[in-house]
Amino acid sequence: MLADWFKPRTPAMVGVDIGTQEVKAVLLSENAEGYQLEGITRVALPKGAVVDREIRDPNAVATAMRQVKAQMPKSAKFGAASVSGSTVMTKVIFMDASLSDEELEAQIEIEADNLIPYPLDDVNIDFESLRKDEANNRVEVLLAACRSDNVDARVDALEAGGLESRVIDVEGYALGRSFKLLAEQLPGAGVGQVVGVVDLGASITTFAVIVDGETVFIREQAFGGEQFTQSIVSYYGMSYEEAERAKVSGELPRNYIFEVLAPFQTQFLQQIRRTIQIFANSSKYENLDSIILCGGSAQIEGLDNMLSEELGIPVHIANPFAGRLRASEVMQQRYGSEISRYMVACGLALRSFEPWHI
Ligand SMILES: Nc1ncnc2c1ncn2[C@@H]1O[C@H](COP(=O)(O)OP(=O)(O)OP(=O)(O)O)[C@@H](O)[C@H]1O
Ligand SMILES: [Mg+2]
Repeated sequence: MLADWFKPRTPAMVGVDIGTQEVKAVLLSENAEGYQLEGITRVALPKGAVVDREIRDPNAVATAMRQVKAQMPKSAKFGAASVSGSTVMTKVIFMDASLSDEELEAQIEIEADNLIPYPLDDVNIDFESLRKDEANNRVEVLLAACRSDNVDARVDALEAGGLESRVIDVEGYALGRSFKLLAEQLPGAGVGQVVGVVDLGASITTFAVIVDGETVFIREQAFGGEQFTQSIVSYYGMSYEEAERAKVSGELPRNYIFEVLAPFQTQFLQQIRRTIQIFANSSKYENLDSIILCGGSAQIEGLDNMLSEELGIPVHIANPFAGRLRASEVMQQRYGSEISRYMVACGLALRSFEPWHI
């Protein structure tokens, strides 16, 4: 029966993106047309609770997680979160394709010991088979390792919110996975294109490159909207909170365009150019065909047009509602203008519909 094809292989998980400024969460279901938004919420975190993806104030995060859970459908029981930053290491290795999952795991542990600069007792290791090279009977395996304390902090956060942790992913790959919802936003659904998905948040820019639906490159940079707020603080002598409010509401003196916006745009452009250069040097591709911009700071005035003009490629703001995401009229109206902030949470929620090997 056709309907059975769309049955989730695991119970649906709430995708929980624990960022610098807030926790964002999304619950999806899958159907023949695509994905249905069943739950969505974001809860602010006090400043300093999460710094460089490290949970510094577990109680503050637990409080936010309880609020998240209260906003989700009652049936939501499982969660997926992500790690990123310097304690995460990913590497693609090549293995014998005839190995079973168990054999692969044993072999990977041996490989990991050589690759990872921490004692294996202090790290969590995961792997995923990517591409098969039939001719040589080899399989490309993505190996991901993360310091266990970083993983445990996410598991604890989910559980504090009453969600049983099922998946701890790597943030860049979760972002890349959200392209499933976005592809149809692009001409020809992005087929054969090299697409950069750029998440410009509060303190971190995450960059994922997708080719034919697969994430082939990820990079993070310590850059985001906080720098913008900080320059408002310095230039106009406001408190950080005043500056943040003025930025989001757009109530700034007109000269902010030259004094604050333009320098920020230049810095952002430099960061993006640098990442594209690193990607081009490490792959067979010379450039990107287009960029999809997401994250809270994607809402900064004119960022998409500036990027498009300077790089000479189309730049779109992420809009999964123009792609494969469906939602009730009420939800679409309420979240339509800010849905681009939820791409990591969406990518995590999408893990509910993928096979896994555990
Ligand atoms: N309307 C707006 N105009 C400009 N900036 C905005 C607007 N709305 C939100 N922002 C900025 O977006 C940033 C928050 O984005 P986001 O929610 O993606 O961050 P985060 O995921 O919590 O942080 P990070 O991923 O960097 O850890 C803040 O710097 C905020 O000021
Ligand atoms: Mg973020």
